[in-house]
Amino acid sequence: MPTSHIPVITIDGPTASGKGTVAHCVAYRLGFHYLDSGALYRLTSLSALRKGVDLSDEHALSKLAGALPCTFEGERVFLGHDDVSVAIRAEEVGNAASKIAGLTAVRQALYGLQLHFRKAPGLVADGRDMGTVIFPHATLKVFLTASVEARAQRRYKQLIDKGFSANMTDLLKDLNERDERDANRTVAPLRPAEGAVILDTSTMAADEAVGRVLEMYAAIKAA
Ligand code: DC
Repeated sequence: MPTSHIPVITIDGPTASGKGTVAHCVAYRLGFHYLDSGALYRLTSLSALRKGVDLSDEHALSKLAGALPCTFEGERVFLGHDDVSVAIRAEEVGNAASKIAGLTAVRQALYGLQLHFRKAPGLVADGRDMGTVIFPHATLKVFLTASVEARAQRRYKQLIDKGFSANMTDLLKDLNERDERDANRTVAPLRPAEGAVILDTSTMAADEAVGRVLEMYAAIKAA
């Protein structure tokens, strides 16, 4: 059954830009499915860390990624029977995810899995390459960004709220390093997709960003 008629909204952007919150709310408001593609890289990374797989072993990592026993239930994420919703958000897991995301074989192994999330009545997909590689013909492409300081503040709050310890100096350093890695890797680097609308949320509340995306989508549908 072809899925090309099913609408897709892609929301890409750097780490802690608020895209997860915005994408989740837009999906909820439209009654669409939601793909948190970063979670797939985080699950691969967590699985590798737990199994002691070397983070430069592209072959072993792509095998893990290609056979991830993952399920998503609302906001909960499972690896096998294990609820890893909190564990995958740890900074150590995010940093390892950013490293393995630069490996072509890992990205290829996760490609088909991501396409399967495109189901009626529609999909909101968030990540780094949703509009450039995975869904290049999306109905609406958004590139959400914010200053590194605003993003560090958000990440700090997220981590503290989830019970992790956090330190602003380390967070700023980590974010800068991760941005650099995500934007400069040779495979699927982070950049706005062709035709993407750029939304800077440095001084914008999540609700406002959600409203802007919904307005843009409504305008496309009405055209
Ligand atoms: O969005 P996030 O912080 O949960 O993503 C974790 C890492 O996964 C991020 O550093 C880069 C990588 N990633 C990617 O390369 N491509 C995606 N579509 C999503 C995430």
